[in-house]
Amino acid sequence: MKPKVFIAKPVSQQVEDYIAGHCDYRIWREEESIPNDILFDEIKDVQGLMIPKAKVTENFIKQAPNLKIISHISVGYDTLDTDLMADYNIIGTHTPYVLDDTVADLIFGLILSSSRRISQLDQYVKVGKWDKLDEPTFLSKDVHHSTLGIIGMGRIGEQVAKRATQGFDMNVLYYNRNARPEVEKKYGLKKESLEQLLNKSDFVLTMVPLTEETQHLIGERELKQMKEDAILINASRGQVVDEKALIHALGEGMIGGAGLDVFENEPVEPSNPLLKMDNVVTTPHIGSATAQAREAMAMKAAENLVAGVTGGKPENVVEELKH
Ligand code: DGY
Repeated sequence: MKPKVFIAKPVSQQVEDYIAGHCDYRIWREEESIPNDILFDEIKDVQGLMIPKAKVTENFIKQAPNLKIISHISVGYDTLDTDLMADYNIIGTHTPYVLDDTVADLIFGLILSSSRRISQLDQYVKVGKWDKLDEPTFLSKDVHHSTLGIIGMGRIGEQVAKRATQGFDMNVLYYNRNARPEVEKKYGLKKESLEQLLNKSDFVLTMVPLTEETQHLIGERELKQMKEDAILINASRGQVVDEKALIHALGEGMIGGAGLDVFENEPVEPSNPLLKMDNVVTTPHIGSATAQAREAMAMKAAENLVAGVTGGKPENVVEELKH
């Protein structure tokens, strides 16, 4: 008998066929997220669950007494309670590697758009305000040969460093728990203390996973340590930056701007002051949202799921649950 699994989001035919080859499956085919009551009902008898984000609580786990694996279709897994999952012997997997380039591209989009004011000036042209040549207010800030500080030198940070040094001749500093000598050598990076990085960078990128340690890693004190015209880019998790402090810093002109793909509360409230600021560029948490990356993530999640329910060894067990 094939193991039972539930797929909590629509996937491509290729991914579905792969799962069908190994499992007895049901699938949520609607575009909107699956409501919790339906999810809880669907997981009652399954051994495996594949889902973009699962808020794993004890109540959740109790709905699924046969559950062996939660295969997350995302690289970040801050919604998984790994201690609880360890207690219940449930494997958690994620989808690293396949989205690194895609997220790094978006980060560069945010860097370019916020420094060269692309979204702001796009609106300026489209609403018909461009009525004289050579507006002095069009002046913006160079990206090439500037200094980029990357907080969190993981897989995505490395891809950003590659683009920055090889494509834009940027000077790249990084702050990370562990030194990355091989990456330093490859791209000519320099490891700094957080304070030094903030003091010296024209662009500061937060690219750390959300943990107790990184929650509000960038707050009032850190924002004060940044240059007055520096731009903060966040494409990791909204909670890494104290949003209240960021709003204050931008409002007071303590920093030059921000490029944000993530927010403390998502979807972001329309009344959030950040959305009214000309020097803030926003996107709706779409770092990995290209057709190619999302397909690769779904296939990787499917492979992890199948391995987890058929007695194999899933390739991408999350760090905290590796034995
Ligand atoms: C990820 O994969 O973690 C993206 O941020 C989507 O949640």
